[in-house]
Amino acid sequence: MTIETKEMKTKMIPIFVMGKRYEVPETLTIMKAMEYAGFKFIRGCGCRGGICGACATVYGKAGDYKLYSGLACQTVVEPNMYLTQVPFYPANRAVFDYSAVEAKPEEIFQLYPELFRCVACNSCTKVCPMDVEVMDAIAQLKRGNIARAAEMSFSCIQCGLCTSRCMGELPQYHIFQLARRIYGGLIAPRAQHLQEAVKIVASGRYEECLQSLMKAGDAELRKLYQEREMEPEMTGEDWTPKDKKCL
Ligand code: FES
Repeated sequence: MTIETKEMKTKMIPIFVMGKRYEVPETLTIMKAMEYAGFKFIRGCGCRGGICGACATVYGKAGDYKLYSGLACQTVVEPNMYLTQVPFYPANRAVFDYSAVEAKPEEIFQLYPELFRCVACNSCTKVCPMDVEVMDAIAQLKRGNIARAAEMSFSCIQCGLCTSRCMGELPQYHIFQLARRIYGGLIAPRAQHLQEAVKIVASGRYEECLQSLMKAGDAELRKLYQEREMEPEMTGEDWTPKDKKCL
């Protein structure tokens, strides 16, 4: 079957959602194809842009023994794709007081002792839709290299697919999040310009502007937003737009 208009001709292909067959346009992503088929996302959909990790999907293909995975908002449908959503995957997430955490590998070892259950099967890396070298980043952490693990896992969007395939049952995405927090808060060099900007905000420079914005009504806020200068020229030393407008 094809959908035809003057401008386009779209081929329809069969996909299977939780075992049921649907005909969908071949150009759609899994997410849009499911919506086309009548599904309404209540879970398993967030940003629609490959950033939030809410739309992890597992799928098979007819005549292929392999199990594939991807983000529903980024992966285009294929004929005879058998798919299901994995909007959440249960995994242990350590509870801790961040202010008491030190920049030591032992902190991670204590909060996530399962780190050492990794059997280096590389299933986590193969399944990652963001191409994070998950197994290697875990190996870095086992060696105590928090900075390298934080850097390697920077693209992680917490979809949980690594954990879903892990032979050692590690919650890799939670472990990486802790590594990045330790790195960002306690190891990475401070950004000088950010510290200066924070000082300026704390000094009350924007207080008047903020107060007037808080008092503004909906229509006024919309007008201000729409008329704002997109890339205001900053004076450099004091981070204030030259024309002193609030937006
Ligand atoms: S909906 Fe956010 S990554 Fe797909």
